[in-house]
Amino acid sequence: MYINFWYPICTGAELPPDAPLRSRVLGMTFVAFRDDNGAAHVLSDTCVHRGGSLSNGKVADGCIACPYHGWRYSGDGRCHEIPAQRGRGKPPARAKVDSYPVEEKYGIVFAFLGDLPEEERPPLYEIREFDQDGWRASEIMILNIACYYERSMENGLDMVHNEFVHPLQGNPSVETKDIEVTTLPWGNRVSAPMGEPQFGKTRMADLRDDPTDIGASSWHYGPNVLVTSIDLSAENNLTQYFFEAPIDRDHTKIYFVNMRNCMLDPALDDRVRDINLTVTAEDVAILEALYPVRTPRTTTKEILSPGDECIVQFRACLKDWEQRGWRIDSKALADDHGDTAYAIPCPQRRHSGNWVLDPIPLLPVQAQD
Ligand code: FES
Ligand SMILES: [Fe+2]
Repeated sequence: MYINFWYPICTGAELPPDAPLRSRVLGMTFVAFRDDNGAAHVLSDTCVHRGGSLSNGKVADGCIACPYHGWRYSGDGRCHEIPAQRGRGKPPARAKVDSYPVEEKYGIVFAFLGDLPEEERPPLYEIREFDQDGWRASEIMILNIACYYERSMENGLDMVHNEFVHPLQGNPSVETKDIEVTTLPWGNRVSAPMGEPQFGKTRMADLRDDPTDIGASSWHYGPNVLVTSIDLSAENNLTQYFFEAPIDRDHTKIYFVNMRNCMLDPALDDRVRDINLTVTAEDVAILEALYPVRTPRTTTKEILSPGDECIVQFRACLKDWEQRGWRIDSKALADDHGDTAYAIPCPQRRHSGNWVLDPIPLLPVQAQD
C-alpha cells in the first residue's frame, strides 16, 4: 500500500451534513465530516489529547468535537477550542491532527493521503465522459472484498482470465500474441480484440448499432484506479471505473462507477447493474481464494507468462513508487498495532513541525547499483 495517491473515503451520500463518518483506508482510520458550507474534510482519526476517536464525536459549528473531552478541530486539522480551558488562552500549537486534501467528485469523497505538495501530486483520475451528453452513469456500486487490493488490480489487467472465469458471458479465447501493452502517465494499458461475447442471455451483437469489431482495454492509473473499456462497436461503449480503497492487507472496498453511451434508457439501469454484479461476483470468488493473499514480493515464486505482461508493468510502477519512499511498511505497522498511533503525513507537515503522532512507517528506499 502506498501513500501519495488519491483514495476514496466514502460516497458523498454516506456523509451527512451533521455527523462524522469513520473510514478505514491503508490500514489507518480517518474521520470525515462536513463543515457549515457542506464541504467535506478528512482528518486523521486519533485525537492528540489522549487518543479519543474523533469519528465517535460530534460535528459542531463546522468542527469535529472529540467525544472524550470535547476538543474541537476544524477542517484544516487545527484544534481551536479546549472546553476545559475556556478563557485561558489558545490551544497549544501542537494541538493539531493531519488534514488531507479532499475532492468530492463522481459522488465519491476522495482524499489525497500523503504529503506531496500540490504541484507534485498525481491528479485525481478524470472521467472525461462524466456529465457529458450522451453518457449515463450508473449509481455507484460498492464492493467489499476479502482480498488484497493489488490482487484485484492485477485481475483487471489480465485479459486471459475472462474465458475461464466468465464463461457465461461467452468470452472467447484471447491469444497472447494479440495482447498489446502500452505505457500511460501513472499507469499502463492492456488491450485485445474481444470476439463475440454475450452478457447473460444478451449477445453483444444485439446491443450494437453497427458491425465493427469489438475490443476491450483495461488500464491502471496509480496503484488503485482500474478502468475497463469495452467497445461494443465504433459508437457504443461501456466503461467501468474501479476506485479501490485498500482497507488493510486483507480487505478492499471498491467504488464502482459504470459509464455507458448506449442502452441509455433509465429502465435499463437494473439490467446493466445485474450484468456488472454477476461478472464481478465471478471475479470475487477467484480473488478471495488466491494464495498467498498478498502478491509475492519476488517473481521467482510465480511463473509469469506473456499474457501477464501488463501485470509485470503494473508491478514495475509499484516498485518505482516504492523507490520514491511511498510504500507503507505494513508489517512494522501490524507489529506495533495497539502500541503506537501513527498518521499518514499530510502536506502541512512539509511546512510546520511539532506534530504529536509519528508518521506511518515506510519501507526504506533501496540503494541502486
Ligand atoms: S482525548 Fe480527545 S479531547 Fe481528550
Ligand atoms: Fe474478470
